[in-house]
Amino acid sequence: GAPVTADISALQEGQRLILEWRGQPIWIVKRSKAILDALPTLDTHLRDPKSENKDQQPSYITGELRSIKPEISVLVGLCTHLGCSPEMKAEIRPEPFDPEWKGGYFCPCHKSRFDMAGRVFQGVPAPTNLVVPPHHYENDTTIIIG
Ligand code: FES
Repeated sequence: GAPVTADISALQEGQRLILEWRGQPIWIVKRSKAILDALPTLDTHLRDPKSENKDQQPSYITGELRSIKPEISVLVGLCTHLGCSPEMKAEIRPEPFDPEWKGGYFCPCHKSRFDMAGRVFQGVPAPTNLVVPPHHYENDTTIIIG
């Protein structure tokens, strides 16, 4: 499929832009400083905190934030278990109550949980982190997906 262009100039903190690329939903989310600060504190609860499974992101996406710019997260919005679309719950704790939950994505199909970098928590059905699609910045506010 052809690359898709995203204009993020109007994207506010806590908001998500949803596009389609190759028939898949692409999420572009602007994360707050509070969320960015929380991400490294979750590492011991995650299956692949440092993005070491190379199938889940391009080689230029590494580490805990899984993004080119710290605040902007780009993800394929499909659960890595059976492909449902997770909900974004930046502030809401899902059931059952989890004291370590600091916002993220919650898949309603079988209760898989991911943080705001798309990193999967331990003990859920989804085996891997959400996919980061290939992308780059054409300029400060324009992202090319694909
Ligand atoms: Fe998301 Fe099963 S499809 S947990």
